This record gives sequence, structure tokens and C-alpha cells, in this order.
Amino acid sequence: MARSPDYLGIHRHKPAVRNDNIKRLSRGEILVPTMNGNLTGKTAVVTGGSRGIGLGIAHELASSGCRVAIAGRDSRALEAAIAQFKNEDLSLSAKRCDVSNPDQVNELFQAVRERFKSLDFLINNAGAAHALANVDRLTPDEFRRVIDTNLVGTFLCCRAAIPLMSAGSVIVNNLSVAAHQTFAGMSGYNASKAGALAFTNTLREELRTQGIRVMALIPGAVDTDIWQQFWPDAPREKMVSTQDVARAVVLTLTMPPNTSIDEIRIGPASGTL
Ligand SMILES: NC(=O)c1ccc[n+]([C@@H]2O[C@H](COP(=O)([O-])OP(=O)(O)OC[C@H]3O[C@@H](n4cnc5c(N)ncnc54)[C@H](OP(=O)(O)O)[C@@H]3O)[C@@H](O)[C@H]2O)c1
Repeated sequence: MARSPDYLGIHRHKPAVRNDNIKRLSRGEILVPTMNGNLTGKTAVVTGGSRGIGLGIAHELASSGCRVAIAGRDSRALEAAIAQFKNEDLSLSAKRCDVSNPDQVNELFQAVRERFKSLDFLINNAGAAHALANVDRLTPDEFRRVIDTNLVGTFLCCRAAIPLMSAGSVIVNNLSVAAHQTFAGMSGYNASKAGALAFTNTLREELRTQGIRVMALIPGAVDTDIWQQFWPDAPREKMVSTQDVARAVVLTLTMPPNTSIDEIRIGPASGTL
């Protein structure tokens, strides 16, 4: 049974080791090289991990042996997300957290500190869009909600996570093609993602001396629930799958610590929908 997502408990902790390339050290320790795609012993937080791209990344990380904590606002959704993988030997835990709330973000990373001691990967993925509306029709509350989630939430999580990170750690900020390309009727979303890109690029420079790498993830259309918020009838068959985005992200996390992949752009081979 999954534990309550209010408690950062380990759901199942028996990560599968998927290759034989294990070096045995003194005192019975083992070292599993991450460059071969195996992340055993690593720790990760995925915000917005209850569904969509976040859940895809969380599952791919956990399948690579990583201990993963997912966060989101809805306890039942977190529980259901973990329950989906109950027959797999994965280390997945959950904690309820609204990334736009500074107190909840601090509680999340305090729980991560207590449970994991340190953090290798932070995936800032939690995000929201708004219904299509030109500026004169978009309410201030809607504009603020999207900025608070996508931009302020990313800032708050980075700020709380950095003290847990060290050389070799990676922060992945899930942005969007909307960080580079503008779409009429999406001013709040465009502004949040372009702002988050500027934030990401600044943070990368600030953390270089600590050896912490910062990557901008720039997806095009990915088949998730977010489309219900602004284009419910969008052609799903043309979109990239969450699993393929997750595979690309996890591949970058297996790069050696002296290599930084600053940005990944991934989307349908056919281009914008
Ligand atoms: N799908 C695409 O085509 C696409 C393309 C480019 C970029 N993106 C970006 O990818 C990220 C994930 O989107 P998705 O498509 O996977 O959307 P999704 O299926 O709607 O999932 C969004 C996730 O974020 C969580 N979330 C939303 N607001 C939150 C908050 N304030 N605090 C904590 N968690 C919150 C949701 O859980 P709760 O609602 O339970 O909190 C859910 O787990 C977003 O940043 C989005 O902008 C998506």
C-alpha cells in the first residue's frame, strides 16, 4: 500500500540494478557508474510528479535506480501515481506541496533533507497554463496564478534545494517552446516561461563554480492533461509521449559531472501543431 503523501516515506525501496558494471570497493561498498545509465544511489525531487511529464520523468528516474520524491497539490493524485507502479521495485515517495507557497516548499525540502540527506537532481516540472484569452480578457488572478506556479515556484524550489546539492548535481527546469516563441492568448504562460528561462540561464552562471549544472528543458507538444486548459481538441496523435521526454531527460542526467547540457529542445518531428 502507498503511504500517505503527507509523509515523505519510502514506498518501496528495492531499486533494480540494470547492469552488471558494478565495481566493488573496500568495506563491502559498491559503486555503480552513472555514465552507463544507472542512477542507483542518486536522489531526485520531481515537482508536479503526480501526472504528465513529471510522472514520466519520476518513473524513468526510479526505474534507473534513483530514490525519487514527487510533489504536487493533490494527495489523492500523488497516491494514485505511486500506486500505478506498485508491482515494480521502485523507490518512490510523495509529499503534498504547492510550489507557489514558500512555507510548503521549505517543508518539502526539509523532509527531503531528513530522508535523503542530499539531493542529486531537482526537476522543476510543476506548471500550469490558462484558458486562451487576450490580455484585455485575462484576469489578474489568472495571470498571477500562472506566474506564481511557473516562475515563482521554480525560484522557490531552486532556492530551497541548492543547500542540499553539490558538485555533480543537476537542476532541470521544465519550460516550454513558449519560453522562446510567443502564442496569442497565452500572455501569462508565455511571460512565465520566458521569465523562467531568464531565471534558469542566470542560475546556471551562478552555480558554475559549485559544479551544479542547470538545464532548460524546452518541450514542444507533449500528450498530457495540460492541453485541456487551452486546447481540449488538440491532435494528440501528433504529440510526443511523456515517456520519450523522460528518456531524453534521464539520458542527460547520466552525463559525467564535467559536462553540462544547457538546454534540450524536444517536440514532434513534424514541428509545431
Ligand atoms: N504538455 C505539453 O505539451 C508541455 C509542453 C511544454 C512544456 N510543458 C510543461 O511541462 C510541465 C508539466 O506539464 P504537463 O503537460 O505534464 O501538465 P499536467 O499533466 O497538467 O501536470 C502538471 C503537474 O503539475 C502539478 N502542479 C500544478 N500546479 C502546481 C502547484 N502550484 N504546485 C505543485 N504542483 C503543481 C500538477 O499536480 P496538481 O494539480 O495535483 O498540483 C501535475 O502533477 C509544465 O511546466 C508545463 O508548462 C508541457
